[in-house]
Amino acid sequence: MTTLIYRLGYIALNVTDLDVAVADAQAIAGARLVHHDADHAMLTSNKRHCEVVFHRATSNAVRAIGLEAKSAAAVDEVAKRAKARGLRVLSETPSLKVIERSATFASSEGHIFEVHTPMPDDQPSRYAGPGIKPRCLDHVNLAAVDTKAMAEEFADVLGLVVTERMKTYELIWMRAGDGRHHTVGLAKGKPGLHHYSWEFGDFGDFKRLGDVLDASDRRLIWGPGRHGAGDNLFAYYLDSSGFMVETTSEMEYIADPNRPEKVTGDLSNYKVVNRWGALPPQEWIEHHNDFVGIDQ
Ligand SMILES: [Fe+2]
Repeated sequence: MTTLIYRLGYIALNVTDLDVAVADAQAIAGARLVHHDADHAMLTSNKRHCEVVFHRATSNAVRAIGLEAKSAAAVDEVAKRAKARGLRVLSETPSLKVIERSATFASSEGHIFEVHTPMPDDQPSRYAGPGIKPRCLDHVNLAAVDTKAMAEEFADVLGLVVTERMKTYELIWMRAGDGRHHTVGLAKGKPGLHHYSWEFGDFGDFKRLGDVLDASDRRLIWGPGRHGAGDNLFAYYLDSSGFMVETTSEMEYIADPNRPEKVTGDLSNYKVVNRWGALPPQEWIEHHNDFVGIDQ
């Protein structure tokens, strides 16, 4: 299987209060504002032009997940494969001016992806300001009714590769060309987004996150801990628009593109979800955000 996707590109979220969403991403995660107008805002945490796009809207929901391909040919191949499987291609016009070429399609369970050519590296590497300042946006975890079928669809259309899965397919982790243990995770549930994730530099950032949330009279939802699958440090919080944000560090890197998929234990084994022992609270388990589509 050829990996057509290199890495997570960006996440586009509809928010009811654009100014508050921007202020939250700056003050807590420490993202940097690139552009802000009456209806949109773009933020990044590194040289890449944009990692999070907020759209002013009537509900808090997911518009699209940007997946970065290395070339226009890879974008075209994804569009061809999506059409061949009978999936809806919603647009072949890039959602951002800085993107050269893209194809936006809906999965058979309604997850919306914009597969796009690389985001330009046209922003400063370092910047002043509040918050933790992550390294990059690194993965998303989606929910799907039929995770096994969805993973097959993502493999077929996007070339994503299963790194690890539960025997029951309750949770599946898929990687892209950059070798991160997962760029897209799947969990059984109502189709939608469970969380998106910023990559932190080291464990000290997790302490600062706890303190920054505390100083704002907010709290961590789960963590810090270390996931079994992916071996990554984690902590989760809810942003001001009600999206679950993971912060992560030290995720396993898979150097061998042909490494066979790993079949791991089930949810009753705490070593899979948190090697340090604390299981997720109900609030984390039940969290859900819908996809609404690119026209809303
Ligand atoms: Fe995650």
